[in-house]
Amino acid sequence: MANLIVVILMLSSLMISIPNSFARKRGPDDDLEWFRSLIHQKEKVAKLHFFIQDILAGPNQTVYELARSSISSSSPTSFGQVSVVDDLLTVRPERDSEELGRVQGLITTSDLEIRALTMNLNFFFTSGQYNGSTLSISGRNQIMNATRELPVVGGTGVFRMARGFAITSTYSFDPTTLYGVLEYTIYVSYV
Ligand SMILES: *[C@@H]1O[C@H](CO)[C@@H](O)[C@H](O)[C@H]1NC(C)=O
Ligand SMILES: *[C@@H]1O[C@H](CO)[C@@H](O)[C@H](O)[C@H]1NC(C)=O
Ligand SMILES: *[C@@H]1O[C@H](CO)[C@@H](O)[C@H](O)[C@H]1NC(C)=O
Repeated sequence: MANLIVVILMLSSLMISIPNSFARKRGPDDDLEWFRSLIHQKEKVAKLHFFIQDILAGPNQTVYELARSSISSSSPTSFGQVSVVDDLLTVRPERDSEELGRVQGLITTSDLEIRALTMNLNFFFTSGQYNGSTLSISGRNQIMNATRELPVVGGTGVFRMARGFAITSTYSFDPTTLYGVLEYTIYVSYV
């Protein structure tokens, strides 16, 4: 009886391990089979465009300082300041435009001479065809440059095995309310 159950389990796991980018999380071997099937698949390409609501102060603040180094206060580049962020992604620059998800992660001022950040960000999409999927960006952001390029280093869900790059610029920044809007265009390939 026990053997029969094992055989049935083996058969059913074989039957559901058909390679399919959306066949996920059914068992430990399904992920391996899906991964193995990658070499036969063509990569897909997507271009994503959205805005980030980056709020450094006030009642709806979404960026908070976590730590600073012994020289952050005297450093011309605020070196060694670490912040945690949970910003809203929107279709248009306006705060009340359609929501696409959140961007969450850590931002560190990490250049002793010019204003530049090390960014470790996870884009978490909560609407449309990418709902539930994530993209990860890890890179250097020289924020005084008009446009900056950041590497896309991976993803989950629809964006498994993602790689690509993002072009970002500051759309607006209000120095009184410390409210910034950032524009992002992400070019990504995935399987
Ligand atoms: C904070 O967010 C709420 C809800 O979106 C909004 O009604 C309010 O105007 C915002 N406050 C500020 C200062 O932006
Ligand atoms: C996104 O997915 C979640 C979880 O499956 C679901 O609850 C939610 O309604 C979806 N949102 C949209 C906008 O489709
Ligand atoms: C920043 O802008 C300067 C001047 O346009 C350019 O020379 C430099 O390559 C840019 N650096 C980065 C990291 O984008």
